[in-house]
Amino acid sequence: MPLTRSLGTRALITGASAGIGREFAWQLAEAGLDLVLVARDKQRLDALAEELHEAHDVAVEVLPADLLTTPGIKAVEARVAASVNRIDVLVNNAGFGLRKPFDENDVDDELGMLRILVEVPLRLTHAALSHLLPAGEGVIINIASVAGFTPRGTYSAAKAWLLSFSRWANLVYKPRGVTVTAVAPGFVRTEFHQRLGGPLEHRIPDPLWLAAPDVVRVALRDARRGKAVTIPSLRYKAIVVAAKLVPDALAERLGRIGR
Ligand SMILES: NC(=O)c1ccc[n+]([C@@H]2O[C@H](COP(=O)([O-])OP(=O)(O)OC[C@H]3O[C@@H](n4cnc5c(N)ncnc54)[C@H](OP(=O)(O)O)[C@@H]3O)[C@@H](O)[C@H]2O)c1
Repeated sequence: MPLTRSLGTRALITGASAGIGREFAWQLAEAGLDLVLVARDKQRLDALAEELHEAHDVAVEVLPADLLTTPGIKAVEARVAASVNRIDVLVNNAGFGLRKPFDENDVDDELGMLRILVEVPLRLTHAALSHLLPAGEGVIINIASVAGFTPRGTYSAAKAWLLSFSRWANLVYKPRGVTVTAVAPGFVRTEFHQRLGGPLEHRIPDPLWLAAPDVVRVALRDARRGKAVTIPSLRYKAIVVAAKLVPDALAERLGRIGR
Protein backbone atom coordinates (compact mmCIF):
# COMPACT_ATOMS: atom_id res chain seq x y z
CA MET A 1 0.00 0.00 0.00
CA PRO A 2 1.42 3.49 -0.86
CA LEU A 3 2.34 5.81 2.01
CA THR A 4 -0.58 8.13 1.33
CA ARG A 5 -3.62 7.29 -0.74
CA SER A 6 -6.64 9.00 -2.15
CA LEU A 7 -9.64 8.86 0.14
CA GLY A 8 -12.22 7.30 -2.17
CA THR A 9 -15.36 8.46 -3.91
CA ARG A 10 -18.22 8.48 -1.38
CA ALA A 11 -18.19 9.08 2.37
CA LEU A 12 -20.87 8.48 4.99
CA ILE A 13 -20.56 10.72 8.05
CA THR A 14 -22.56 10.22 11.23
CA GLY A 15 -23.30 13.37 13.23
CA ALA A 16 -22.88 15.50 10.10
CA SER A 17 -25.31 18.24 11.13
CA ALA A 18 -22.93 20.01 13.53
CA GLY A 19 -19.40 20.38 14.85
CA ILE A 20 -16.68 17.98 13.78
CA GLY A 21 -18.97 15.93 11.51
CA ARG A 22 -20.11 19.02 9.63
CA GLU A 23 -16.48 20.01 9.11
CA PHE A 24 -15.71 16.51 7.75
CA ALA A 25 -18.53 17.06 5.27
CA TRP A 26 -17.01 20.34 4.07
CA GLN A 27 -13.45 19.04 3.75
CA LEU A 28 -14.46 15.77 2.06
CA ALA A 29 -16.72 17.65 -0.37
CA GLU A 30 -13.84 20.00 -1.12
CA ALA A 31 -11.74 16.90 -1.91
CA GLY A 32 -14.44 15.90 -4.43
CA LEU A 33 -16.17 13.06 -2.57
CA ASP A 34 -19.89 12.47 -2.78
CA LEU A 35 -21.49 12.32 0.66
CA VAL A 36 -24.16 10.65 2.77
CA LEU A 37 -25.02 12.79 5.77
CA VAL A 38 -26.49 11.19 8.91
CA ALA A 39 -27.96 12.91 12.00
CA ARG A 40 -31.42 13.45 13.51
CA ASP A 41 -32.05 17.00 12.35
CA LYS A 42 -33.29 16.61 8.75
CA GLN A 43 -33.71 20.37 8.18
CA ARG A 44 -30.11 21.05 9.07
CA LEU A 45 -28.91 18.17 6.90
CA ASP A 46 -31.00 19.34 3.92
CA ALA A 47 -29.62 22.88 4.20
CA LEU A 48 -26.05 21.59 4.50
CA ALA A 49 -26.52 19.24 1.54
CA GLU A 50 -27.62 22.14 -0.63
CA GLU A 51 -24.69 24.32 0.44
CA LEU A 52 -22.18 21.51 -0.20
CA HIS A 53 -23.63 20.72 -3.59
CA GLU A 54 -23.57 24.37 -4.63
CA ALA A 55 -20.05 24.97 -3.37
CA HIS A 56 -18.37 21.78 -4.61
CA ASP A 57 -20.70 20.18 -7.16
CA VAL A 58 -20.80 16.84 -5.30
CA ALA A 59 -23.82 14.56 -4.86
CA VAL A 60 -25.13 14.67 -1.30
CA GLU A 61 -27.65 12.22 0.17
CA VAL A 62 -29.40 13.01 3.43
CA LEU A 63 -30.18 10.12 5.75
CA PRO A 64 -31.97 11.38 8.87
CA ALA A 65 -31.72 8.79 11.64
CA ASP A 66 -31.75 8.65 15.42
CA LEU A 67 -28.83 6.36 16.23
CA LEU A 68 -30.26 5.67 19.67
CA THR A 69 -33.11 3.72 18.09
CA THR A 70 -32.98 0.28 16.48
CA PRO A 71 -34.72 1.44 13.25
CA GLY A 72 -32.27 4.37 13.04
CA ILE A 73 -29.20 2.14 13.43
CA LYS A 74 -30.61 -0.46 11.01
CA ALA A 75 -31.27 2.17 8.32
CA VAL A 76 -27.72 3.48 8.52
CA GLU A 77 -26.20 -0.03 8.65
CA ALA A 78 -28.15 -0.92 5.52
CA ARG A 79 -26.89 2.21 3.72
CA VAL A 80 -23.28 1.49 4.73
CA ALA A 81 -23.54 -2.10 3.48
CA ALA A 82 -25.37 -1.22 0.23
CA SER A 83 -23.64 -2.28 -2.98
CA VAL A 84 -25.28 0.47 -5.08
CA ASN A 85 -23.56 3.87 -4.75
CA ARG A 86 -21.05 2.17 -2.49
CA ILE A 87 -19.58 3.94 0.54
CA ASP A 88 -15.79 3.71 0.61
CA VAL A 89 -15.16 6.14 3.47
CA LEU A 90 -16.97 5.79 6.81
CA VAL A 91 -16.68 8.49 9.47
CA ASN A 92 -18.02 7.31 12.84
CA ASN A 93 -18.42 10.67 14.51
CA ALA A 94 -21.88 11.10 16.13
CA GLY A 95 -21.67 11.32 19.88
CA PHE A 96 -22.44 13.16 23.08
CA GLY A 97 -21.38 13.20 26.70
CA LEU A 98 -23.33 13.17 29.94
CA ARG A 99 -23.03 15.96 32.43
CA LYS A 100 -23.54 14.13 35.71
CA PRO A 101 -21.21 11.52 37.24
CA PHE A 102 -21.95 7.83 36.55
CA ASP A 103 -23.67 7.08 39.87
CA GLU A 104 -26.04 10.08 39.49
CA ASN A 105 -27.11 9.33 35.92
CA ASP A 106 -30.11 7.30 34.93
CA VAL A 107 -28.62 3.98 33.79
CA ASP A 108 -30.62 4.20 30.53
CA ASP A 109 -28.87 7.49 29.70
CA GLU A 110 -25.55 5.76 30.33
CA LEU A 111 -26.54 2.92 28.02
CA GLY A 112 -27.63 5.42 25.35
CA MET A 113 -24.20 7.06 25.46
CA LEU A 114 -22.52 3.65 25.30
CA ARG A 115 -24.69 2.80 22.33
CA ILE A 116 -23.78 5.86 20.28
CA LEU A 117 -20.08 5.83 21.20
CA VAL A 118 -19.46 2.05 20.98
CA GLU A 119 -22.28 -0.03 19.52
CA VAL A 120 -22.93 2.29 16.55
CA PRO A 121 -19.27 2.46 15.37
CA LEU A 122 -18.95 -1.30 15.90
CA ARG A 123 -22.05 -2.06 13.82
CA LEU A 124 -21.21 0.43 11.06
CA THR A 125 -17.61 -0.78 10.84
CA HIS A 126 -18.86 -4.35 10.55
CA ALA A 127 -21.33 -3.34 7.83
CA ALA A 128 -18.64 -1.41 5.93
CA LEU A 129 -16.11 -4.26 6.03
CA SER A 130 -18.65 -6.55 4.34
CA HIS A 131 -17.86 -4.84 1.04
CA LEU A 132 -14.64 -2.91 1.70
CA LEU A 133 -12.63 -6.10 2.34
CA PRO A 134 -13.75 -7.88 -0.85
CA ALA A 135 -13.01 -4.64 -2.76
CA GLY A 136 -9.58 -4.47 -1.10
CA GLU A 137 -9.85 -0.77 -0.28
CA GLY A 138 -11.58 1.60 2.08
CA VAL A 139 -11.10 4.13 4.87
CA ILE A 140 -12.73 4.10 8.29
CA ILE A 141 -12.29 7.06 10.64
CA ASN A 142 -13.44 6.79 14.25
CA ILE A 143 -13.71 9.95 16.33
CA ALA A 144 -12.38 9.03 19.76
CA SER A 145 -10.97 11.57 22.24
CA VAL A 146 -7.90 12.27 24.35
CA ALA A 147 -10.28 11.38 27.20
CA GLY A 148 -9.76 7.78 26.07
CA PHE A 149 -6.20 7.86 27.41
CA THR A 150 -7.19 8.64 31.02
CA PRO A 151 -9.60 7.22 33.63
CA ARG A 152 -12.44 9.77 33.44
CA GLY A 153 -15.75 7.99 33.69
CA THR A 154 -17.85 6.09 31.22
CA TYR A 155 -17.36 8.61 28.36
CA SER A 156 -13.62 8.11 28.61
CA ALA A 157 -14.05 4.32 28.91
CA ALA A 158 -16.12 4.28 25.70
CA LYS A 159 -13.50 6.35 23.87
CA ALA A 160 -10.78 4.00 25.20
CA TRP A 161 -12.72 1.13 23.63
CA LEU A 162 -12.80 2.98 20.29
CA LEU A 163 -9.05 3.67 20.44
CA SER A 164 -8.25 0.04 21.24
CA PHE A 165 -10.67 -1.27 18.60
CA SER A 166 -9.21 1.02 15.93
CA ARG A 167 -5.59 0.09 16.77
CA TRP A 168 -6.45 -3.59 16.47
CA ALA A 169 -8.63 -3.19 13.36
CA ASN A 170 -5.97 -1.14 11.56
CA LEU A 171 -3.38 -3.86 12.24
CA VAL A 172 -5.62 -6.59 10.88
CA TYR A 173 -7.37 -4.84 7.98
CA LYS A 174 -4.76 -2.40 6.66
CA PRO A 175 -2.81 -5.24 4.99
CA ARG A 176 -6.11 -6.10 3.27
CA GLY A 177 -6.54 -2.54 1.98
CA VAL A 178 -8.87 -1.06 4.61
CA THR A 179 -7.38 1.45 7.03
CA VAL A 180 -8.95 2.25 10.39
CA THR A 181 -7.91 5.52 12.05
CA ALA A 182 -8.96 6.74 15.49
CA VAL A 183 -8.87 10.51 15.93
CA ALA A 184 -8.26 11.67 19.50
CA PRO A 185 -8.91 15.41 19.83
CA GLY A 186 -8.87 17.45 23.00
CA PHE A 187 -11.48 20.18 23.53
CA VAL A 188 -12.94 21.30 20.21
CA ARG A 189 -15.23 24.30 19.76
CA THR A 190 -18.48 22.65 18.62
CA GLU A 191 -21.96 22.23 20.10
CA PHE A 192 -20.75 19.34 22.29
CA HIS A 193 -20.25 21.35 25.48
CA GLN A 194 -23.41 23.46 25.03
CA ARG A 195 -25.39 20.24 24.66
CA LEU A 196 -23.87 19.07 27.95
CA GLY A 197 -25.45 22.22 29.39
CA GLY A 198 -24.28 24.62 32.05
CA PRO A 199 -21.08 26.57 32.45
CA LEU A 200 -18.64 23.69 31.95
CA GLU A 201 -16.95 25.17 28.90
CA HIS A 202 -16.01 28.40 30.70
CA ARG A 203 -13.81 26.33 33.03
CA ILE A 204 -11.65 25.20 30.13
CA PRO A 205 -8.62 27.48 29.54
CA ASP A 206 -8.42 29.12 26.10
CA PRO A 207 -5.17 27.49 24.94
CA LEU A 208 -6.78 24.07 25.35
CA TRP A 209 -9.42 24.72 22.69
CA LEU A 210 -8.96 23.36 19.17
CA ALA A 211 -10.77 24.46 16.02
CA ALA A 212 -12.76 21.80 14.16
CA PRO A 213 -11.17 22.63 10.74
CA ASP A 214 -7.68 21.97 12.18
CA VAL A 215 -8.80 18.71 13.81
CA VAL A 216 -10.37 17.44 10.59
CA ARG A 217 -7.39 18.47 8.44
CA VAL A 218 -5.05 16.40 10.64
CA ALA A 219 -7.56 13.52 10.76
CA LEU A 220 -7.81 13.32 6.96
CA ARG A 221 -4.05 13.66 6.49
CA ASP A 222 -3.37 10.80 8.91
CA ALA A 223 -6.21 8.65 7.56
CA ARG A 224 -4.58 9.00 4.11
CA ARG A 225 -1.34 7.81 5.71
CA GLY A 226 -3.13 4.83 7.25
CA LYS A 227 -2.24 5.75 10.84
CA ALA A 228 -4.05 3.81 13.57
CA VAL A 229 -4.31 6.75 15.99
CA THR A 230 -3.92 10.47 15.44
CA ILE A 231 -3.87 13.16 18.13
CA PRO A 232 -4.41 16.58 16.55
CA SER A 233 -2.04 19.30 17.85
CA LEU A 234 1.32 19.16 19.61
CA ARG A 235 -0.28 20.45 22.82
CA TYR A 236 -2.45 17.39 23.15
CA LYS A 237 0.28 14.99 22.06
CA ALA A 238 2.31 16.32 25.01
CA ILE A 239 -0.69 16.07 27.35
CA VAL A 240 -1.23 12.41 26.37
CA VAL A 241 2.43 11.59 27.03
CA ALA A 242 2.20 13.34 30.42
CA ALA A 243 -1.09 11.61 31.26
CA LYS A 244 0.60 8.24 30.82
CA LEU A 245 3.23 9.25 33.39
CA VAL A 246 1.02 10.67 36.16
CA PRO A 247 -0.77 8.39 38.64
CA ASP A 248 -4.41 7.54 37.81
CA ALA A 249 -5.69 9.42 40.89
CA LEU A 250 -4.10 12.70 39.71
CA ALA A 251 -5.21 12.18 36.08
CA GLU A 252 -8.77 11.63 37.29
CA ARG A 253 -8.72 14.87 39.37
CA LEU A 254 -7.34 16.93 36.45
CA GLY A 255 -9.89 15.36 34.13
CA ARG A 256 -12.78 16.72 36.17
CA ILE A 257 -12.40 20.13 34.48
CA GLY A 258 -14.31 18.79 31.47
CA ARG A 259 -14.44 16.21 28.74
N1 LIG B 1 -16.10 18.78 21.02
C1 LIG B 1 -15.16 18.20 21.74
O1 LIG B 1 -14.50 18.82 22.62
C2 LIG B 1 -14.80 16.75 21.45
C3 LIG B 1 -13.55 16.29 21.91
C4 LIG B 1 -13.19 14.98 21.66
C5 LIG B 1 -14.04 14.15 20.96
N2 LIG B 1 -15.26 14.62 20.54
C6 LIG B 1 -16.13 13.69 19.83
O2 LIG B 1 -16.41 14.22 18.54
C7 LIG B 1 -17.64 13.69 18.05
C8 LIG B 1 -18.48 14.81 17.47
O3 LIG B 1 -18.80 15.72 18.52
P1 LIG B 1 -18.90 17.29 18.28
O4 LIG B 1 -17.94 17.92 19.21
O5 LIG B 1 -18.85 17.62 16.86
O6 LIG B 1 -20.37 17.53 18.90
P2 LIG B 1 -21.67 18.30 18.35
O7 LIG B 1 -21.27 19.59 17.73
O8 LIG B 1 -22.60 18.29 19.50
O9 LIG B 1 -22.21 17.33 17.21
C9 LIG B 1 -22.72 16.05 17.52
C10 LIG B 1 -23.33 15.44 16.27
O10 LIG B 1 -23.87 14.14 16.63
C11 LIG B 1 -25.22 14.07 16.20
N3 LIG B 1 -26.01 13.21 17.10
C12 LIG B 1 -26.15 13.33 18.44
N4 LIG B 1 -27.01 12.41 18.90
C13 LIG B 1 -27.41 11.68 17.82
C14 LIG B 1 -28.31 10.60 17.64
N5 LIG B 1 -28.99 10.08 18.67
N6 LIG B 1 -28.50 10.12 16.40
C15 LIG B 1 -27.83 10.65 15.34
N7 LIG B 1 -26.95 11.66 15.45
C16 LIG B 1 -26.76 12.19 16.67
C17 LIG B 1 -25.72 15.52 16.22
O11 LIG B 1 -26.78 15.71 15.30
P3 LIG B 1 -28.37 15.82 15.63
O12 LIG B 1 -28.53 16.55 16.93
O13 LIG B 1 -28.92 16.52 14.42
O14 LIG B 1 -28.82 14.38 15.69
C18 LIG B 1 -24.49 16.25 15.73
O15 LIG B 1 -24.46 16.24 14.31
C19 LIG B 1 -18.28 12.96 19.23
O16 LIG B 1 -18.08 11.56 19.08
C20 LIG B 1 -17.51 13.48 20.44
O17 LIG B 1 -17.48 12.52 21.49
C21 LIG B 1 -15.66 15.90 20.77
